Amino acid sequence: MEKKIAIFASGTGSNAKKIIEYFLGNDQIRVDLVISNKGTAPVLAIAQSFGIDTMVIDRSSFYQSDIIVDQLKGRDIELLVLAGFLWLVPDYLVRAFPNQIVNIHPALLPKFGGKGMYGMNVHKAVKESGETETGITIHYVNEKYDDGKSIFQATCPVYDADTPEQIAKRVLQLEHENFPKVIEKVLLEAGNN
Ligand code: GAR
Repeated sequence: MEKKIAIFASGTGSNAKKIIEYFLGNDQIRVDLVISNKGTAPVLAIAQSFGIDTMVIDRSSFYQSDIIVDQLKGRDIELLVLAGFLWLVPDYLVRAFPNQIVNIHPALLPKFGGKGMYGMNVHKAVKESGETETGITIHYVNEKYDDGKSIFQATCPVYDADTPEQIAKRVLQLEHENFPKVIEKVLLEAGNN
C-alpha cells in the first residue's frame, strides 16, 4: 500500500517543496497533507499548487486536544515530517506516532539546538562561536526540542569570511539535497520491520 506523509511547516516551505517534488510520480510514497500553524505561510500555497490538501492548526486545539491524531490516522498517514515547524510537538502526538515523526535541524546537533534555536538564530550562533564546520541533522522527534535520536547528519564548511546568511544558504542546500532521500529511506525501512 502507498505510504503517506504529512508535512508540518511554519514558513517559507522550500524543504516542503523539494519533498513534494521528489515524491511526485512515486507510486509507493506520497505527500498527502501539509499542515501549518500560520494561515499566511507560503508553504500552504506551494502545497495547493501541487493539489495537496492543507490544514491550518491553532495553538489551543493543538495543545489542548488530540483531535489531530484522528485526522492523521483517518488519512492513514505513516510519517510526520517537520520541515521548518517551530512549535514543540505535544506529548500525545509523539506517543501516537512512535518513531514516525522526523525533524530537520540546520546545525550539527547536539550543538546549537533547543528552544529558540531555529532559522537564522542558529546560523548566527554558529558564526559567533567560531565553528569551522556546520551542517544538518535529521532526527526522530521526542517531547523535547531537537533531542530525539539522530538519523542522519551531513556537514559543510564555515569560512572565516562567511556571514550568517551565507552559512544559511549552504546549509539549506544540504537540506534540499538530503531530506527527501532520508525520508524515503526511513519509510522504506519502516516497511521492512
Ligand atoms: C530550515 O532551514 C530548517 O532546518 C529550519 O527552518 C528552515 C525552514 O526552511 N528548522 C529549524 O530551525 C527547526 N529548529 P524552509 O521553510 O525554506 O524549508
